[in-house]
Amino acid sequence: MMADQYVRIFDTTLRDGEQSPGASMTSAEKLEVARGLARLGVDVIEAGFPAASPDDLEAVRRIAVEVGAAGADGTPPPVICGLARATRGDIDKAWEAVQAAARPRIHTFLATSDIHMQHKLRMTREEVLRAVAEQVAYARRYCADVEFSPEDAGRSDPSFLYQVLRVAIEAGATTLNIPDTVGYTTPEEFGGLIAGILAHTPGARDCVISVHCHDDLGMATANTLAGIQAGARQAEVTINGIGERAGNTSLEEVVMALHTRRPFFNLETRIDTTQIGRMSKLVSNYTGIVVQPNKAIVGANAFAHEAGIHQDGMLKNQMTYEIMRPETVGMTQSRLVLGKHSGRHALKVRLSELGYDLNDAELGQAFARFKELADKKKTITDADLEALLADEIYRPREVYALDDLQVACGTVGMPTATVRLRGPDGGLHVRAAVGTGPVDAAYKAIDGIVRAPNMLLEFSVHAVTEGIDALGEVTVRIQGSNGHHKLDAQRETQTPRTFGGHGADTDIIVASVKAYLAAINKLLVAGGLEGEPPERAAVLEAVAPGD
Ligand code: KIV
Ligand code: ZN
Repeated sequence: MMADQYVRIFDTTLRDGEQSPGASMTSAEKLEVARGLARLGVDVIEAGFPAASPDDLEAVRRIAVEVGAAGADGTPPPVICGLARATRGDIDKAWEAVQAAARPRIHTFLATSDIHMQHKLRMTREEVLRAVAEQVAYARRYCADVEFSPEDAGRSDPSFLYQVLRVAIEAGATTLNIPDTVGYTTPEEFGGLIAGILAHTPGARDCVISVHCHDDLGMATANTLAGIQAGARQAEVTINGIGERAGNTSLEEVVMALHTRRPFFNLETRIDTTQIGRMSKLVSNYTGIVVQPNKAIVGANAFAHEAGIHQDGMLKNQMTYEIMRPETVGMTQSRLVLGKHSGRHALKVRLSELGYDLNDAELGQAFARFKELADKKKTITDADLEALLADEIYRPREVYALDDLQVACGTVGMPTATVRLRGPDGGLHVRAAVGTGPVDAAYKAIDGIVRAPNMLLEFSVHAVTEGIDALGEVTVRIQGSNGHHKLDAQRETQTPRTFGGHGADTDIIVASVKAYLAAINKLLVAGGLEGEPPERAAVLEAVAPGD
C-alpha cells in the first residue's frame, strides 16, 4: 500500500464520544472498548481527557499500559493519545496518563475562530499565537508525537488559521487536526479548507493532516470524506457516531465508504470491518445510547429487506439491493448456532469466531448462562450470545446483585413488585413497591433498598431475535442527583455524569431490573458510595406510586 493512499483511523469514542451527555463509561468498560478498538485495527485511540478528573486520568493510564503496550508478536500497538487544553497543567496530566504506552501521543487544542477567541477565551490573535507556540513546544519536550487542533477551525479566518498552523508546526506538532467543531461547514467548503491549508501553510505537507467533524447538519461523514479527498490522511471518528450534540463522524460510515467505493477513492485503512457490528453493540450497551434502527451500516434495519419487490430481487441476486454484505461488517442476521445439547467447547469455538477470547472463569460463567437460556429458548443465535456476554461477562462491578424478583400485574389491581437484592454487606434486602406498571414498581422497590437518588433519563427495550421466546434486551440511562460531575474539555464547565446499564433475559421485567441495577452500580462506584449501607427499612414494605 502506498503511504499516501493510507488513511489513519483515529478513534475518539472514549474522549469526544464519552464526553457527550449520557455516554459515561466506567474504567473497566473503557478498557474493554479500547481492547476492542485495538482488535478492530484503529491506528490511534484517543483514550480520554486526563485533566477532567483523577478517574479519567487513571482510565487513560490503564489503557496505555494494557492496550498500548508492544505485542509479543511484534505487531505495533495503536497509538494511545490523551487530550489536553493548551495549558501546562493539562499537558502534564496528559503525559502522566499516556507515557506508559509504546506509542504515546499528546493532543492539545486552542480555539482560533473570532467568536471563540473573543467570547470564550478572551484572548487576542497574538495571544493565541503565543500560547500555541509555547504549549506545543512544551508538549514536544515530553513526547515526539504531538497533535495540535485549532478548535472551531471550520469558522476560523483561513489566513489566521494558516498562521496558527505554521506556528504549531514550527513548535513541533506532527499532526494538524482540523475540527469542524460545530458541524457548520459543507463538504465543498471543508474540502476547500483542507486544500487551502496544504497550499498555504509552510511545512503542512510534512505533517499528517487530520479531519474531525461534528454532525450538527448531518454532514459529518460527507465533510470528512471531502477532507480526505483534499489530502487529509487521518480521520477522527467515533463508533456509532456518538459525540457532542448531534455527534461526531461515525467510524463505520467513513471506513465502509472507503472500502465499498474503493475504485472511486483509491484509499485504504487497516480496519478489520468484520469487527464493526460487535463494537457498535459494545459501545451501545456500555453507554446506554441506542443505535437508531435506520442508522447506516450498524442499524438493525441496515440490511433488512421488507418490500416484496426488494425481497424478490434479493433472492435472484443479492447485489440488486445490497451494496455490501452484512457479514463484511459483522452484522450477520441471527445465525442459528447452538442449542441445548451444545457443549462448552462448541460455545468457546463460536465465541472465539465472534472475537471474544474468554478466560476459563469467564467461559464457565458464560456457559452457565448459556445453558440456562437454552432451557428456555430452542435455538441460540450469535445475537443471543452477544447479549448474554454483555450481560454476564462485561457487566459493571456488582455492588447490589439481583437475588429474586416477583411481580404481579395485569388489568385488575395494582402493579406490584417484590425485589430481593444481595447488598455490599453480604446480606439480603427485600422491598416491595407499587407502581404505574411492573417496571416502575420494580424500580421503586430497588430505590427503596439502594441509596442512590437518580433520575431515569431513558429506557428502551427490544427483542434480540425474532420469535416469541426471544431474549429481551433493555438499555437504561440514569443521572445521579447527588452531583457526580466531570470537567468538559471544551466548555470549561462541569457537566453532570450519566450512567448506562444493560440487561438481557427472556423475561423483560428481569432484563429491566438487571439494566437498572447495572446503571445504579456504576453510579455507586463512580461516586465512591459502594460502602454506603442500604436503606434502613429494607424489609417487606409497600411504597405507594408517586413516593
Ligand atoms: O470538536 C472539537 O473541536 C474537538 C477538539 C478538542 C479537537 O473535539
Ligand atoms: Zn469534537
